[in-house]
Amino acid sequence: MKVLITGISGFAGSHLAEYALSKEAEVHGTTRWRSKLENLQEIKDVITLHECDINDSFAFRDIIKKVKPDYIFHLAAQSFVKASWTEPYQTLHTNIIGELNLFEAVRSISNYKPRILIAGSSEEYGHTDVELTEDSPLRPLSPYGVSKVAQDLLGFQYFKSYGMHIIRTRGFNHTGPRRGEVFVCSTFAKQIAEIEKDKSKLPIIKVGNLDAERDFTDVRDMVKGYWLALEKGEPGEVYNICSGKSIPIKNILRKLLSLSKREIKIRNDPERMRPSDLKVLVGNNTKFTEKTGWKPSINIDQTLEDLLNYWREK
Ligand code: GDD
Repeated sequence: MKVLITGISGFAGSHLAEYALSKEAEVHGTTRWRSKLENLQEIKDVITLHECDINDSFAFRDIIKKVKPDYIFHLAAQSFVKASWTEPYQTLHTNIIGELNLFEAVRSISNYKPRILIAGSSEEYGHTDVELTEDSPLRPLSPYGVSKVAQDLLGFQYFKSYGMHIIRTRGFNHTGPRRGEVFVCSTFAKQIAEIEKDKSKLPIIKVGNLDAERDFTDVRDMVKGYWLALEKGEPGEVYNICSGKSIPIKNILRKLLSLSKREIKIRNDPERMRPSDLKVLVGNNTKFTEKTGWKPSINIDQTLEDLLNYWREK
């Protein structure tokens, strides 16, 4: 079986590539000329990379035509919520038009019906204070959230209009080794690792909004979910992938600090605050677990320890 992962060099993309290899798939991925390939170091000799910016419809079409993957995991995106306020155009363009280019590329090939996963987000739900099911209203509070709603609806429309085998997931927060340093668990873990390494550094960790609560899944469980979504999910459907439990960000910080022997002080950094932030995000995963049998297997304590060790080694 042939698999194409857009955004393969990213955090989830690289873990998904490893998982696909463990399933004996032939793995292809798209990268941009400026993509860093360090996440793929261990597997670079057994995968095939194609240089293609998803905004480039012609390059995208050529690659889909050449590879003709059975499964396409569309993960490439501008995925940092905070950056979407400073880069709204780039966020909306890359996320929405990039997906449109993928759909049009697939549609241009006759008698070709791959399974396509669109990686949406819990940010689509936006303003809320209840446990979220797939039927909850979509009220995004960030340009990123809006871009993900558009991706989600475009996926639905292409399924309905053209009968394409499209499955949408709404992934809640995920973390683990290789997480980009701008995201909350990673920025905390990286700062702790730096303080441990450099004894001359002031033992102060900078933080943003610690009052938020998020529903975290280990990235290694998340990518198994992506795989199962294509293997067992119903075309046209949308599924939450989440743990079903929320944890306050301040507890994430506390857990990470407890893994270090250094005495570290906490400092609020106004630069890390957002124009609007979601207070609580917690999802209901019943629809997905019942359909696919997926269950998260790595608990948050293990995930945070692995993440901190990743930064210590780096
Ligand atoms: N990044 C960051 N840095 N966030 C902080 C910090 C900090 O220093 N301190 C507190 N936070 C809070 C944020 O305000 C937010 O409420 C929460 O921690 C999580 O922030 P992020 O890790 O940046 O993730 P996110 O929730 O905005 O978005 C992630 O999850 C989405 C799914 O819900 C990303 O992975 C998205 O791509 C994904 O769709």
